Amino acid sequence: MSEKQQVSGSYWLETAPGGRYPALTDDLTVDVAVIGAGIAGLSTAWELARAGRSVAVLEAGRIAASVTGHTTAKVTALHSMIYDKLRRTRGEEGARLYARSQSEAVEHAAAVVEELGIDCDWEPRTAYTYVCDPGRAEDVRAEARAAREAGLPATFVTETALPFPVAGAVEVTGQAQFHPRKYLLALAEDLVARGGRIHEDTTVVGLDEGEPCRVSTTSGVTVTARDVVVATHYPVFDRALLFTRLSPRRELVVAGPVPAGQDPHGMYITPDEGTRSVRTAPYDGDRRFLVVTGEHFTPGTGDTRARFDRLTAWATEHFPGLTVTHRWATQDNDPTDTVPLVGPLHPGARHTYVATGFAGWGMSGGVMAGRLLAAQITGEECAWSGLYDPRRLRPQVREAPSFLKTQAKVAGHFVGDRLRPSPPVESLPPGEGAVVRVDGQRLAVYRDEEGSLHAVSARCTHLGCLVAFNSAERAWECPCHGSRFATDGKVVQGPATDPLERRDI
Ligand code: FES
Repeated sequence: MSEKQQVSGSYWLETAPGGRYPALTDDLTVDVAVIGAGIAGLSTAWELARAGRSVAVLEAGRIAASVTGHTTAKVTALHSMIYDKLRRTRGEEGARLYARSQSEAVEHAAAVVEELGIDCDWEPRTAYTYVCDPGRAEDVRAEARAAREAGLPATFVTETALPFPVAGAVEVTGQAQFHPRKYLLALAEDLVARGGRIHEDTTVVGLDEGEPCRVSTTSGVTVTARDVVVATHYPVFDRALLFTRLSPRRELVVAGPVPAGQDPHGMYITPDEGTRSVRTAPYDGDRRFLVVTGEHFTPGTGDTRARFDRLTAWATEHFPGLTVTHRWATQDNDPTDTVPLVGPLHPGARHTYVATGFAGWGMSGGVMAGRLLAAQITGEECAWSGLYDPRRLRPQVREAPSFLKTQAKVAGHFVGDRLRPSPPVESLPPGEGAVVRVDGQRLAVYRDEEGSLHAVSARCTHLGCLVAFNSAERAWECPCHGSRFATDGKVVQGPATDPLERRDI
């Protein structure tokens, strides 16, 4: 990625721009209010509408455009190297429930595509988790065994259709890939046809957990609802302090057409080299669209341009016919105990629910969450409610190392980032930003292409860590819990809900 090259935006957004839904301008009463219109929120709303509930979806930006609009879009129950770990931490029954819940989500999504006749490039595919290092082959063999014992059709193989040798791979058949926006835009349309309401550009700022609940927005209107679902990726209402259990992870994507002959005909991921994930999508007669994801990192740390360069080099080395036309980035939340948090918002919650922590597996996870939350709200039993219950969150011995590591990292940023030396503002080139000290204050200063300086407070409005500049994406990022802000301070991604305050410079 050259000095001036920037991210180009998501291919999914470019090829399925969709229409707009109106902002909410009048008070509203519904059975269920869903905050957030990614795959988890829209799936929950759709399931509830199908069950006869009146539903309103409230989205601060555009539907299926944030994390869901930037995903790799694999719909699979094979989640890298999770089953051996789950077997050890959650027991065999926990691993079985996880496999069943995710497999049923894959099957359910396929059934929805069929039922609604959605044209979303749904393609059945085999999923692989591979390693190239022979020293890790035994780990993959153990993962294949654990996945099989959990109920997946998993086998250990040493041959794949990748254009390089692997030391070993878990192979799981019967999975799928799709165009996430084509799927969700169709789901949204059907939701509205069933009487559901969708409001974009509607930012929720308050949640009163009464009976009924009341949700308030920045424009002063109120939604009254018996039940409320918070599905905003990182929960904007975090009454169980889930932020202590979630670790933000940013990941880069490079993509473009390759000759059809270079299609590896599967969905691949490796934990090696900071993760590499590969899939393709339909493009034109002779070519497939290759999507390569990797280089995960904590938001606000390191050199994102160099990471894009590394990922591009890897992609073009292994797929020499690739013309890179798109670069974008996505963000995931890793729960400290591996399992997503889906269920009641906090221990005392009666009518409020949350879905978060999908660790990069939000397609099957989001569909699973939609079914689980709809079952809980309509009073149905679900075998895996306990597995995903956010109220399980008590520091247990087995989670302690990961929990403590997450907290130590946050504390390190909170203190250490304040000790960083401040560069002189004059040295800032166009298109760059830095945190500088001015009159004892830390300011986040950005110089635009015309040379003008723009300053905002560097103190993240979530819990006060200092933001850092991501020069490839031209955004301020908070390393503590992953909030992201535009160069003018506007919130791009939560958990922060307030902008960085403007400052004079
Ligand atoms: Fe929590 Fe910034 S996101 S302090």
